[in-house]
Amino acid sequence: MPENLMEKIVSLCKRRGFIFQGSDIYGGLANTWDYGPFGVELKNNVKRAWWKAVVYERNDMFGMDAAILMHPKVWEASGHVSSFADIVAECKGCHKRFRIEELFSQEVINQLNKKDIGGDTSAFTSLDKAIVVFNYGLRTERPKCPECKAQDFSQAAEFNLMFNTNQGLTKDDKSLIYLRPETAQGMFVNFLNILDSRHPKLPFGLAQIGKAFRNEVTPGNFTFRTREFEQMEIEYFVKPDDADKKLEDWINERFSWYINLGISAENLRKRPHGKDELAHYAKACTDIEYNFPFGWSELEGIANRTDFDLKQHAKASNKDLQFFDDATKERFLPYIIEPSGGVDRSVLAFLVDAYHEEQVREETRVVLKLHKDLAPIKVAVLPLLKKKTEIVELAKKITQDLKKSIVTVYDDTAAIGKLYRRQDEVGTPFCVTIDVQSLDDKQVTVRERDSMAQERISIDRLKEYLNNKLTNI
Ligand code: GAP
Repeated sequence: MPENLMEKIVSLCKRRGFIFQGSDIYGGLANTWDYGPFGVELKNNVKRAWWKAVVYERNDMFGMDAAILMHPKVWEASGHVSSFADIVAECKGCHKRFRIEELFSQEVINQLNKKDIGGDTSAFTSLDKAIVVFNYGLRTERPKCPECKAQDFSQAAEFNLMFNTNQGLTKDDKSLIYLRPETAQGMFVNFLNILDSRHPKLPFGLAQIGKAFRNEVTPGNFTFRTREFEQMEIEYFVKPDDADKKLEDWINERFSWYINLGISAENLRKRPHGKDELAHYAKACTDIEYNFPFGWSELEGIANRTDFDLKQHAKASNKDLQFFDDATKERFLPYIIEPSGGVDRSVLAFLVDAYHEEQVREETRVVLKLHKDLAPIKVAVLPLLKKKTEIVELAKKITQDLKKSIVTVYDDTAAIGKLYRRQDEVGTPFCVTIDVQSLDDKQVTVRERDSMAQERISIDRLKEYLNNKLTNI
């Protein structure tokens, strides 16, 4: 791993137009990021690759795109109003707020959780208990503030992570509305619509990509943890008895997806959750983690949500959400297996994994070895002699022709060495150079990004040659 890798990635992203600081000309809005010309292509390619793998290549999945704004009762039924909270304490020195995980190591949290904290806690919700445990820890362990090192904190309090606002002109409880903190609920509330419109058999799943919003206490690490982000989620409905097996299948399937798109196996791992880590709705969960420069961190979680969500929504909406099994004539609530990943975190992992520095003839070459499906630009056409009109005209003609089926750019704004370096830095798999000889022999040079190997290809065959190289991977 190159030194200061995160700084290098952030700087490359800005310099080459992948990701910019949000609201940059106003000094930036902290922890917001805007995807620029190459960033949006990379992000779209990640989403396309996911959709292809989980919708188009399977026979048991349906796509969806639900509204971000949902009936407020959805979030009461889902448990988000009561339980989607972090426990935070404020440092009395610098007045910053911190989450429990930032003040205590996992080992200490585990010890605190096991301690008898006295009194009758049987009526406590898990959140109440966590607050009591946290306060006990603040008194006995006296953690240091990560910012100013003071050891004096306010009492811990619950901090709900949902953004809320008011719908329409009035501002009262009735107009209260939330920005969704996960896309999942949009799929649960459409379960009945899918049964009635598509009549699927179990198991089947819904897939959705969309924005989610969380008022995170401590966002950071570039695009890793932000308050506005995009999720790629699957809700897979199964017979309760099949849930354990389907959970394993999805964990393996999702793990392979990252590997197939070029993430090095040694940088990826599966981490099953301990019982005390599970979200309020989950019976089991395994995270797929990536070895980021700031440590192993979650890319995606795959959970067994049981029938929690359908049960809650059936109760709150008064609708029968049971599945009727034609074969056995049974009615039941299916269990749900949920592979839930972040688009922005995947993009970051793909960038980090692709970043390479190589010594080439006394110079450092920075190259993004992105999988060809993910590369923002697939081909760059570069004329060797900008001053020769026939070469420029031929290069532009070839570019226009390739553009019809391949994402191609034309660049003549520097010498060839510099043009190659620019394309390497943004991960373009192929460069096509047009030289004087091309005018006579009707051939061009194709240079492959990773090996830098060059091949002469006739212009007639160029499109077919590149299309084959770009699809046969
Ligand atoms: N529906 C289940 C759910 O939302 P989660 O583990 O809270 O589960 C799923 O989120 C994924 O969404 C995470 O694995 C991560 O990739 C992404 N994600 C969650 N919070 C995020 C944040 N603040 N910034 C960026 N991505 C986030």
